[in-house]
Amino acid sequence: MESFLHILFTWLHLLGVALWVGPQVFLAVAWGPASRQITDFPQRVAAMRTITRRFGYLGGFGLLLIIAAGTYLIVTWREYYAIPADAEFTSLRFGVWFIIKMNVLIVMLVLVALHMVWAGPRQLRLYEAKARGEQVDEAELRRERAVSMTLSIAGLLLTLAIMVMGVMIGTGTWSFQEA
Ligand code: HEM
Repeated sequence: MESFLHILFTWLHLLGVALWVGPQVFLAVAWGPASRQITDFPQRVAAMRTITRRFGYLGGFGLLLIIAAGTYLIVTWREYYAIPADAEFTSLRFGVWFIIKMNVLIVMLVLVALHMVWAGPRQLRLYEAKARGEQVDEAELRRERAVSMTLSIAGLLLTLAIMVMGVMIGTGTWSFQEA
């Protein structure tokens, strides 16, 4: 039963990672060129709003799965791997790298939050003003776009780094050695 639950929650953890990372890559690789084919600007901006909102739902659900399943994996970790109660968490590479992973996760979440509540909406507001035919400062639009892109690329790179750390701690032959 214990193994079954471990497999189930590892799968949920990885499913969350797929839902979190997949749309980010897709948005960067496919949405850019596809959106430029929509020549009607107001229509392009409307599509942009829909796709970023749906992306938020999907990625947000992925992140919830990651955190819920990850919490199960860490809470049951000692029992599952039969680590003696007197072995300090940070005496093993597992503990040290888990803590590093959580710190990088916090930085990543801050970048994502900045993108979601600040840079993204500001950029979209400027695009929507332009779509309504209002006068928009093109230099400001370029600046907002650069900020928003930098935040998303940095967030994605940190997520990829967190995945590496996850695999590191998941590799018992390496992670159960003394730190
Ligand atoms: C964006 C955030 C995260 C990503 C991309 C991520 C990714 C991964 C990956 C790829 C693995 C390797 C799975 C395997 O090979 O078995 C893993 C393992 C693990 N993750 Fe995460 N993770 C994230 C967040 C979290 C959080 C928030 C927690 C805890 C609250 C957590 C706890 C764990 C644990 C304990 C393992 C080791 C499972 C085991 O093999 O026993 N992770 N993670």
